Amino acid sequence: MNWTEHFASRVSYIKPSTIREILKLTQKSDIISFAGGLPAPYLFPVERLKEASVKVLDEQGSQALQYGTTEGYTPLREWVSSRIPGTTVDHVQIVSGSQQGLDLIAKLLLNPGDRVLVTAPTYMGALRAFDAYEVDYVMVDVDDKGMIPVSLEQALKENPKMIYAIPNFDNPTGICMSLERRQMLVNLAAKYNVPIYEDDPYGELRFEGDTLPSLYNLAPDIVIYAGTFSKIVVPGFRLGWLVADPELLTVVARAKQAADLHTATFVQMIAYEISKDGFMDEQIDRVRAYYKNQRGLMLKALEKNFPEDCHWTRPKGGMFLWVTLPKGSNSLEMLTEAVKHKVAYVPGEPFYAKGGGENTFRLSYSIATPEQIDEGMENLGKVIREHSKIEELV
Ligand SMILES: Cc1ncc(COP(=O)(O)O)c(C=O)c1O
Repeated sequence: MNWTEHFASRVSYIKPSTIREILKLTQKSDIISFAGGLPAPYLFPVERLKEASVKVLDEQGSQALQYGTTEGYTPLREWVSSRIPGTTVDHVQIVSGSQQGLDLIAKLLLNPGDRVLVTAPTYMGALRAFDAYEVDYVMVDVDDKGMIPVSLEQALKENPKMIYAIPNFDNPTGICMSLERRQMLVNLAAKYNVPIYEDDPYGELRFEGDTLPSLYNLAPDIVIYAGTFSKIVVPGFRLGWLVADPELLTVVARAKQAADLHTATFVQMIAYEISKDGFMDEQIDRVRAYYKNQRGLMLKALEKNFPEDCHWTRPKGGMFLWVTLPKGSNSLEMLTEAVKHKVAYVPGEPFYAKGGGENTFRLSYSIATPEQIDEGMENLGKVIREHSKIEELV
C-alpha cells in the first residue's frame, strides 16, 4: 500500500526532524554528548521504587493492576493539590507524562490555522505536539528575565488562541522568568482574553534564589498548569499532572478517556507511596544538589574554554544552558565539525517555531561526568574558534 496517499491532511504538519540524523551520530559511545535532555540516571531511586512496588502489590495488588479512573488515583491527586495553594483534588488531572497534557489541551483549544504564542526559542516537543493540530505560531523575543514586554504585546495583537510558557528554567535556554514579567504576562493575557499553558517540568530544580509564584498562582482562572515526575523521580513512569479550572478538566478527562482511558494505576500508586512519607522531598533535594554542581562545572568549563565573543545563559535551575555564537555563525554546520571532535550539542534553529537562531545551540549538563564536561568544553571551544575562522573567510 502507498501509505502517503492515505494520510490525513494533518500529517503534512508533522514534520521530519532535520537534525535527527546528525544527532544519531552523537549516540556513538566515543562522543561526549551534551545534546540529550535526559535526566541523570544516577539519581533514579531504584531501591526505594522497588520497595514501594512490592508494598503496593502486597497490600493493594488487585486495585493497582485493575483499570482505574480517568482523572487519576485520588490520593495522588490529593498529594499534588496539597502542594499547590488554592486547589482541591478536582483541580488535578493525572496525565501520562506532561507531554500528554500538551496534546490534550491543544486538541481541546486549537483549531486548524489558530496561532499559538511561543517564545523564540521554545521547547521543540511542544511545537511538535501543537503542529499536529495544524496551527501557526507567533514568536515572542526573550531576554534573561523572560518574555520582553513590547514583543509580547505586539504578539498578542496578532490574535493568538493560546500562550505557551515555561517560566522556570526553560528548555532550551534555562532562563527563569522574573516576578515582574510573570505579573505582566498574566495581566496582558487577561486583557487580551488568551489562556496560558504553563509548562513547569523544571520548577523544583531551583539551585538558588527564592521560588517565584507560578503563573497559575497569580491567575488561576486563565492558566492551565502542567507538572511532572519525570525530572524529579523518573521519566520512565510517564507520569505528570495538569492543574486547572475543574470545569475545563471535565472536558480534558473526556479527551483523555478517548486517548488512553487512564494513566497506569500501578505507576500512580508507586508514585504516591514514595510521595506520602516525605521521601519525595528528600529526593528533590538530592536532584537539585546534583544538577547545581553540574551547572557549576559547566559554567567554569565554558569560562575557561569558550572565546570571548560567545555568550551563554547562567541558569539558576534546570538542566540546560543556551549558547549564542557571534552573528553569522551557523551551529548546525558546526555540529558536523563538533562530532568529528567527539562532542555534540543541539543546534538552536529547531527550537524556533518560525525560524531563526542559526547562531545558537543548547547544552545539557545533566548526565556528563566532570571529566567529560572539561574535555567536551575544551574540544567545543576549539571547534568554535575554527568555525569562526572559516566564517571570516567566506
Ligand atoms: C518543557 C518540557 N515540557 C514537557 C516535557 C515532557 O515531559 P514529560 O516527561 O513529563 O512528558 C519536557 C521534557 O523534556 C520538557 O522539557
